[in-house]
Amino acid sequence: MLSISGYVPVYLTRDEERIYNGELGWVFEKAMRVVVKIGNIMGADRLVPIDHAHISGVGYANIGEAGLSLLRDLYSGGARFSVYTTANPGSVDEYSASYFSYGDRFISGQKEILEIFRGMGVRAFTCTPYYYREPRAGEILAWAESNAVLMANSIYGARSNRESGLLALFEAIIGRTYRGGLIRSENRVPQIVFRIEARPRNIVEYGVAGLIVGEISGDRIPYIDGISFKRHEDIKAFLAAAGSSGGMGMILIEGVSLEARGIGGRIDIKSLETISIEDKDLRRVSEDLECGDVDAALIGCPHASQEIVEELARMISERGVRASKPVWIFTSPHVYEDLARRGVVDTLTSKGVKIFTGICGVISPLNSLGYRCIATPSAKAAFYLPKLAGVRFIYMDLPEIVEKMFK
Ligand code: F3S
Repeated sequence: MLSISGYVPVYLTRDEERIYNGELGWVFEKAMRVVVKIGNIMGADRLVPIDHAHISGVGYANIGEAGLSLLRDLYSGGARFSVYTTANPGSVDEYSASYFSYGDRFISGQKEILEIFRGMGVRAFTCTPYYYREPRAGEILAWAESNAVLMANSIYGARSNRESGLLALFEAIIGRTYRGGLIRSENRVPQIVFRIEARPRNIVEYGVAGLIVGEISGDRIPYIDGISFKRHEDIKAFLAAAGSSGGMGMILIEGVSLEARGIGGRIDIKSLETISIEDKDLRRVSEDLECGDVDAALIGCPHASQEIVEELARMISERGVRASKPVWIFTSPHVYEDLARRGVVDTLTSKGVKIFTGICGVISPLNSLGYRCIATPSAKAAFYLPKLAGVRFIYMDLPEIVEKMFK
């Protein structure tokens, strides 16, 4: 490719040039051209193979008829994934459509999107692809779900830019990403520091701490000092919330992130802007937003882990209570299968809990079904429910959900 006045575009191998020039058809050409264009904008020097692509923007509520029409064109044009690919959940599937009856057009549109993605080669619909196929340190990904990108970069030590859904789809088709942004070591360094003086007590407060970090950081990579997590679910809640209010793809956490080790030898941390978060900050964030008269409780944004579902089942069993209002758990198909094998699904459903697998309750028109106020322990859900589902929320940790939503 030509170099114009010092500008060095992405280098392409002969095979990549053939794709770029349309020798494998218009779908591959389009995918390659988009990835190269973004690579040029990001200052990438070449393309690199990816081990796993993860696509977002699967919900009919997100992409609508225009997105569906583009997917139809790509699929009929031969779009198939050339690498291991997973995708975010949609709003409903064949098993949940009678419960979440969003209307014939919505449901048939959503089902068609899922069918097209399955036809292209999606292995699973989940927003926790790191439970489905755990990323290895150093491997290259093209992931588009913010909580997943943050987990991959910050916890597993893998490398992914925070892609848009469409870009991840094109990267899944050509099996490559551009070597720029968070793929390169020199860009994986902190730009702002947070000293966490607060002591979060539960996943609600870990999530609220994440919302604050995300909002203040914007696109900058934070370094987090002073936070301790009791369990995996706390980290997940913190990162998912930070990725909702912020635009970063990585957070370096002292004592947790592989790449936070020895960071002081590489970066002058003291020269960075430093923000303290105290207990009073965690309690202040949601006060004006919360609703009172709860219609339903939503657990599983991001998709619930085995750990949290089992914890809920244990609490309900110990108290001998039954759901007095709708209580929904959203989880991934493989987590659901494990829970079903061990009898946890039966325990919960016999107590009136609804467990949905492979769908998302947040990016869904819940207001069209008459829901107005949703209780949730998830700060990410709280961030999106008013914007995307048209409902208000109230924070409730699991013990409070058991206390208030069961009798
Ligand atoms: Fe997953 Fe939906 Fe939350 S895709 S992260 S449950 S908004």
